[in-house]
Amino acid sequence: MTLGIISAMSEELEILLQDMKIDSKETKANMIFHKGMVWNTEAVAVVCGIGKVNAAVCAQILISEYKVDKVINVGVAGGVGKEIYPGDVVIGDNLVQYDMDTTAFGDPIGQIPRLDTFDFKCDESLVALAKEACKENGNIKSFVGRIVTGDQFVADPAKVKWFDEEFKALACEMEGGSIAQVCYLNKIPFVVIRSISDNANNGAHMDFAEFTAIGVKNSTSILKSMVLKMN
Ligand code: ADE
Repeated sequence: MTLGIISAMSEELEILLQDMKIDSKETKANMIFHKGMVWNTEAVAVVCGIGKVNAAVCAQILISEYKVDKVINVGVAGGVGKEIYPGDVVIGDNLVQYDMDTTAFGDPIGQIPRLDTFDFKCDESLVALAKEACKENGNIKSFVGRIVTGDQFVADPAKVKWFDEEFKALACEMEGGSIAQVCYLNKIPFVVIRSISDNANNGAHMDFAEFTAIGVKNSTSILKSMVLKMN
């Protein structure tokens, strides 16, 4: 079993890479694919860059060229729910791309036109493992639910309200939904683990700068507990 692990930014993968025994590094599509062992598991870990296109290219390379069996996307996100604060972790059990809009044809906002699903459901056993990992890390507050994705760093309370009302989302970010779509198209199990760095409101960019480090620490702790359970 080879696990593909994707983060958007180098700081999100830093702790994992410190723990990884790296056998090889290859650059493809401007991304460095680290192949090796981490937490007793064979893995390919990669920083994909920010946004849906980078994330989709990366996920497809992991699947087509590295033949990964499962994909985990880990990193930080903007919190949507009122009780969700920086440092908390959200396990995505399904993903929606909120910026896909073919409503002119009568589709619901977020629907990828002509695809047979509205949301991209994370693998149930990976979600279950992530939940167990959350229990083990009881000091970290965790939630399970929908994460929404779009090519925007959200710093707008009105948009957060819309994410809540329209999508019942718990968090927003910029990659998970496209990784989810690639995995769906390739029938590869996946899950998204995100820690909150900000509440996507007016001060989001400042909170992001302040809380990303604790977010990364928490999401990596959950990921580690989870991966250790996978063998
Ligand atoms: N990732 C972390 N915070 C975010 C935000 N506010 N919007 C989009 N992606 C994020």
